[in-house]
Amino acid sequence: MTSLSHLIREVEADILSYQFPQEPRNLYDPLRYFFGLGGKRLRPVLTLMTAESFAAKGENARYAAIAVELFHNFSLIHDDIMDEAPYRRGKETVHTKWNQHIGILSGDVLFVKAYESLAKCDHKYLPTLLNLFNKTATEVCEGQQMDMDFENSVDVYEEEYIEMIRLKTSVLLGCAMQFGGIIADVNQKTQDALYNFGQYIGIAFQIKDDLLDLFGEEAKVGKQIGGDVLSDKKTLLSIKAKELGCDMFEISNTTDIKLRVELAQQQFEKVGAKKYVEAAMNDYYKRAIQTLEALPRSQKEIYEEFAEFLVKRSY
Ligand code: IPE
Ligand code: IPE
Ligand code: MG
Ligand code: MG
Ligand code: MG
Repeated sequence: MTSLSHLIREVEADILSYQFPQEPRNLYDPLRYFFGLGGKRLRPVLTLMTAESFAAKGENARYAAIAVELFHNFSLIHDDIMDEAPYRRGKETVHTKWNQHIGILSGDVLFVKAYESLAKCDHKYLPTLLNLFNKTATEVCEGQQMDMDFENSVDVYEEEYIEMIRLKTSVLLGCAMQFGGIIADVNQKTQDALYNFGQYIGIAFQIKDDLLDLFGEEAKVGKQIGGDVLSDKKTLLSIKAKELGCDMFEISNTTDIKLRVELAQQQFEKVGAKKYVEAAMNDYYKRAIQTLEALPRSQKEIYEEFAEFLVKRSY
């Protein structure tokens, strides 16, 4: 089995050799720019890792892996418009560097490109791959809408938050893993275990994303620190902080942006919300590790290495 760092390099090379059409430049230049900015490439690595650990043959896994990364990048370009995010991957977001109209249409065509790549897979796998992809893409949109709706809700419960992040984020990690399993002809029980691992680790991953959003280092995270607080996102941090008696009005009424973020950092830590959220993340990480019991022993190590990176990362 290839090492994780080798798989990451393989995926990066594949992605950098991906060619977008030249014209119209205002449609494709933003995509060349955004796709070339790097990113962790987690989802395509998951597809390749799974396919390889079950000895899949041929190019199918690469087409499916690229499809997942193209879809992910589409979702980020639109997410940055919706979240009014100025930076990503340490650089200006597409709608900031160009404009919102360009962000919408470039994102749309990227979604089509994802299907184009998936359609290159062997026809015998296509109905299954497409069913899963359609279900996943629909759920991501549902989760995104819940995330936006929650900005205007006063009370969001922890279970509602978990369901929202399961949809907006974790189902795509589950899908990326199951793609690898489908292409490697594994049975349904193993496919389910792969999907469940992806889902649990995806929930831990989004909880970590929320922690980094407030407590991360801007230079490492590559995104604006405190963006979630500034747009009144309901994260497990803010839900728990409120429950533990944090004065959310004081935070939202602080007009100076820098002070508002600093106040949230101090208060969320002081009332114990940060600790609670870190424990919740570790709980989902452990659940992910437990699902690996259904897999052959020889495959587990690389999945464990991947899971550990997701929860320990600083970017
Ligand atoms: C960001 O995903 C969006 C979330 C679901 C949290 P990543 O953190 O994987 O973004 P890149 O691809 O590495 O930039
Ligand atoms: C993004 O969630 C989820 C999707 C793109 C579907 P976030 O809004 O938390 O992601 P970041 O923090 O901007 O990367
Ligand atoms: Mg968002
Ligand atoms: Mg966002
Ligand atoms: Mg985030």
